[in-house]
Amino acid sequence: MKCIGVLTSGGDTPGMNAAIRAVLKEGEDRGINVMGIYHGYKGLIAGMVKQLSHQDVENVMHKGGTVLRTARSKEFTTQEGFVKAVDMLKAYDIEGLIVIGGDGSYRGAKLLADNGIKTIGIPGTIDNDLGYTDFTIGFDTAVNTITGEIYKIRDTMRAHDRVGVVEVMGRNCGDIALWAGVAGAVDIILVPECDLSWEDAMRQLVTNKLKGKLTSMVIIAEGAGKAEDFANYVRTNSDIDIKAIVPGYIQRGGNPTAFDRVLAARLGQRAVELLDSDIGGRAVGIRNNQIIDVSLDEAVNSVDNFDKKLYQFNSVLAKF
Ligand code: F6P
Repeated sequence: MKCIGVLTSGGDTPGMNAAIRAVLKEGEDRGINVMGIYHGYKGLIAGMVKQLSHQDVENVMHKGGTVLRTARSKEFTTQEGFVKAVDMLKAYDIEGLIVIGGDGSYRGAKLLADNGIKTIGIPGTIDNDLGYTDFTIGFDTAVNTITGEIYKIRDTMRAHDRVGVVEVMGRNCGDIALWAGVAGAVDIILVPECDLSWEDAMRQLVTNKLKGKLTSMVIIAEGAGKAEDFANYVRTNSDIDIKAIVPGYIQRGGNPTAFDRVLAARLGQRAVELLDSDIGGRAVGIRNNQIIDVSLDEAVNSVDNFDKKLYQFNSVLAKF
């Protein structure tokens, strides 16, 4: 291939810049022009395309966000918008496209692939909700950010003999809650994948208090409900003093961890390698520390790989 494009789409994630940098460097090494498409599919439709150079990816490896910007595009899902996007790829002689994003972005990539455009997906989302890969870029950073927050929150909860419930992102996936919950030594993890009732969770908090543990920590994935609703439920049905905390977008920003940067580099390299072998319609990922690729079809339909064993073990870890 002589010319490929790269875009970031959907929610940004720490490590996207590291992936863009890897794509550019690997492309240059193979004599391929790499076109940066700004503002995701929305920008593609509008022709916001520019050839990337070293300057564009200099000193960005460690930065959160995405130098290519990102967007969620409704227009791309319409026939008219889709045709415009395909025409734009042709206008810029882009023979292959790399899409860095999550589930929604992958569906767009699959649509392009189904219509003859060689497209490769790189998993970039803090949610870790693409089951074909053990990890998505940005997940590790989000988990580390939330783990740090949990320890800060616990300090002040403990000073007041309070319970804290922290709500984290993840859409319908409980992975951020699970990993940050285990790393943050929380007492109770509420996730959509497991059916621990709010009543049972509250009973556990009451039992902890009766046994002398005045401060417990709860983490709730957004897919399992709102921290404020859980706190209200506990306040209404017990004498526990509980505070709801929603860290929000801080878990999507910040410097990517070394793990996310290296993962992004490895995935970026494989994505270019595939396109240069004239292969499209694939999504790259990591399984058992090996870089793999599967069809975009498999990627968007892959079953969730939530670690129930780890989830159950947390109740052992949390015993008081
Ligand atoms: O997919 C990433 C994510 O941060 C989810 O965890 C969250 O539900 C969503 O994006 C928030 O989206 P927005 O940026 O539109 O608020």
